Amino acid sequence: MEQQLVFDTQLLTKYDVSGPRYTSYPTAPQFSEDFCEQNYRDSIAESNGDFLARPLSIYIHIPFCNTVCFYCGCNKVVTKDRSKGADYLIRLHKEIAMQAEMFDGDRIVKQIHLGGGTPTFINDPQLTVLMNELHKNFPIAEDDIGEYSIEIDPREANKETIIMLRDIGFNRLSLGVQDLDKSVQLAVNRVQSERETFDIIDAARASNFRSISLDLMYGLPNQSVDSFSRTLDRVIEAKPDRLSLFNYAHMPKLFKPQRRINEVDLPSPSVKMAILKQSIQQLEEAGYIYIGMDHFALPDDELSIAQSEGKLQRNFQGYSTHGDCDLLAMGVTAIGQTHNSFSQNHRNLDDYYAAIDAGHLPIFRGMTLTADDRLRARVIQELICHFRLDFNLISKQFDIDFNEYFSHELTKLLSMEKDGLLQVEANAIEVLPAGRLLIRNICMVFDAYLQKNQQQYSKVI
Ligand SMILES: C[S@@+](CC[C@H](N)C(=O)[O-])C[C@H]1O[C@@H](n2cnc3c(N)ncnc32)[C@H](O)[C@@H]1O
Ligand code: SF4
Repeated sequence: MEQQLVFDTQLLTKYDVSGPRYTSYPTAPQFSEDFCEQNYRDSIAESNGDFLARPLSIYIHIPFCNTVCFYCGCNKVVTKDRSKGADYLIRLHKEIAMQAEMFDGDRIVKQIHLGGGTPTFINDPQLTVLMNELHKNFPIAEDDIGEYSIEIDPREANKETIIMLRDIGFNRLSLGVQDLDKSVQLAVNRVQSERETFDIIDAARASNFRSISLDLMYGLPNQSVDSFSRTLDRVIEAKPDRLSLFNYAHMPKLFKPQRRINEVDLPSPSVKMAILKQSIQQLEEAGYIYIGMDHFALPDDELSIAQSEGKLQRNFQGYSTHGDCDLLAMGVTAIGQTHNSFSQNHRNLDDYYAAIDAGHLPIFRGMTLTADDRLRARVIQELICHFRLDFNLISKQFDIDFNEYFSHELTKLLSMEKDGLLQVEANAIEVLPAGRLLIRNICMVFDAYLQKNQQQYSKVI
């Protein structure tokens, strides 16, 4: 197999700065509250008018969690009160109907993702009604064409729920695991037995889910190279189709629950680096391909295939094989994307409920993209998905002279070229194996907004 990654500790240390994860460009801190409901409606009307009706990808956010994991940086509401789910769904169903009214009927939904929080916080009948609401309001592609996924916390699901989820149309699962080691689990308040995790994987296989993905995290308290290597051995035995190996972003000023993590228990930067190195080696030996930015997949998984065919995209859900879609996001905090705009819903439940109860779309902020934003977004997309950028392609698509437009950026890349991260050819940038883990740093050169926002991002390694 082609050598995809070179792990160079010196280089990784040199380039270990904070930076965006580029699930969007411009990134969310650029969104403005001046962007209002009418701007959103205008952007949907504009996308309906495009010559080719783009299909839709729907993201639905269920914010509730039964308990808090101390590391968690997700948008969530921790509560034991299950009746909160019913109140939320009343508003969500209204939002689905309001949103659906705006889209032309020929825009097929090819992707649905239910994320959280913990989507299975709401019970099985509620999940069934939610899917029915989507089917009532949108034309949804058949199972063999569409990608319908849900995030599962194995502590909050059982075999019956998995069977039910397949019945109501889900065909992909992603499971939160993080680490199988008990002392790590205790330190982050997420005790989840191997049995709970592997039973869900077995149930998903038996119910013919097409793809199973696992979330793991390195940099958590009490982790060592040996302990995490044991976790990976067990995970590899279960052979998930995809694996996310996230770098724990410890930002206790931003995420309150992280203040309950004892910082002396966190692995040192050099141990973190060694865990990453060992993990990459283990995963590559087990046949996983490094897709980019924390993601690995088996060669026959659709992500690997999309990457090899040059069709991979990146959006708010990470890497995607359905980048041709407009992303319609519903629920509290959810972020949507059309060709020309980003929009985010209210971030707290009271504001979200108040907007919907008053008959408004719950838009809180967003932005309309400029021509320069779209051009840079495309450049970053190509680099982060394919590790290669063809200048002619970009020049043609955006009617520019790439070398002239990006002369400043090309000069900035020279030091990275000297360090062996990439090669600037006459008409292309090729990211070299030593630069792949530092793809965020390379993309950052093309980010026009970065200077003022650097402090809001997590470390790249
Ligand atoms: C919404 S959660 C997954 C679904 C479900 N709530 C669960 O925990 O099983 C999404 C993933 O984000 C990752 N994550 C959460 N907090 C993080 C942090 N501070 N740094 C890096 N990754 C994080 C975890 O791997 C987690 O599984
Ligand atoms: S990791 Fe998942 S279950 Fe844990 S608090 Fe975050 S969203 Fe909730």
